[in-house]
Amino acid sequence: MPATFNQPIIEEFRANGGKVGGPFEGGDLLLLTTTGARTGEEHTAPLGYVREGGLLLVVGSAAGAPRHPAWYHNLLAHPTVRVEIGAETFEAIAVPAEGARRDRLFEQVVRAAPGYADYQARTTRTLPVVALERSDPESEKGAREVADLAGKLVEVHTWLRSQLRHVRVEADAHFAERAAYQSPGEPPSPGLGLQLRQHCLAFCETLEFHHTSEDAHLFPALASYHPHLAGALDRIREEHVTIARVQAGLVALLADIGTAEPGRFLTELDRMSEELRAHLDYEEESLLPVLAEIPWPPAPPAPDAAESATA
Ligand SMILES: [Fe+2]
Ligand SMILES: [Fe+2]
Repeated sequence: MPATFNQPIIEEFRANGGKVGGPFEGGDLLLLTTTGARTGEEHTAPLGYVREGGLLLVVGSAAGAPRHPAWYHNLLAHPTVRVEIGAETFEAIAVPAEGARRDRLFEQVVRAAPGYADYQARTTRTLPVVALERSDPESEKGAREVADLAGKLVEVHTWLRSQLRHVRVEADAHFAERAAYQSPGEPPSPGLGLQLRQHCLAFCETLEFHHTSEDAHLFPALASYHPHLAGALDRIREEHVTIARVQAGLVALLADIGTAEPGRFLTELDRMSEELRAHLDYEEESLLPVLAEIPWPPAPPAPDAAESATA
């Protein structure tokens, strides 16, 4: 759908805490912001959604058009998405369901919103059913309040550590299921499977974003205020380069999920775990004492400073 068609709906949604009138009145609507597969630019689409057994689901119906909507192609390339529901905004990992699970979820969606059955009837493609899994640290129970930059760094590192563990558990389960499959019943998805792929890719994206911003912003600032950290920062930057290489290997394997070989994938994943664990530990050991001195989030400018600036 062209952006010009969606724009008034998006603006109305944001101005009214997630409520819109007209043809969408009373429907459950969310805004999904994806990153363009080719352009890298943000793309926001208003979508109907269904909550089912703790899952937040959207359907790539495109009103029954012959092609998948652009947002679906985008989330395959970049699984990390932003969701706005009501007045709330959060990050999520978009995971399309596969095989029998997809069919089961689609049935449940149709029970809640029968219009999707009409859309499915209009097209020969199988309408994708996508679960939006909340991924921001705020959703983690027991997360401590972040009061300084050390807390912020640990928060991101904790997410990376747990996501990588999760991917490893999922990979083991997926490959064990494939190895054990004989017949009958539904065969496990080929290659890596979409779920594992999306989780691993989201991990890689978050890691890359984190290291890029450390290299571009955090480390230059630290180096100028704390010259004694120069040696540690050099080592940390080198580790970033090594990890980026392992990450590129993983992403290349993820590009072709249908044929990706389990053994190679698990080897790369182990290398990543090893390198990353050592890196995060060293970075925390070297930088946390200094980062604990820097309040986070940054304090807003003092009111009298603003006054004197305008006086
Ligand atoms: Fe870090
Ligand atoms: Fe780092």
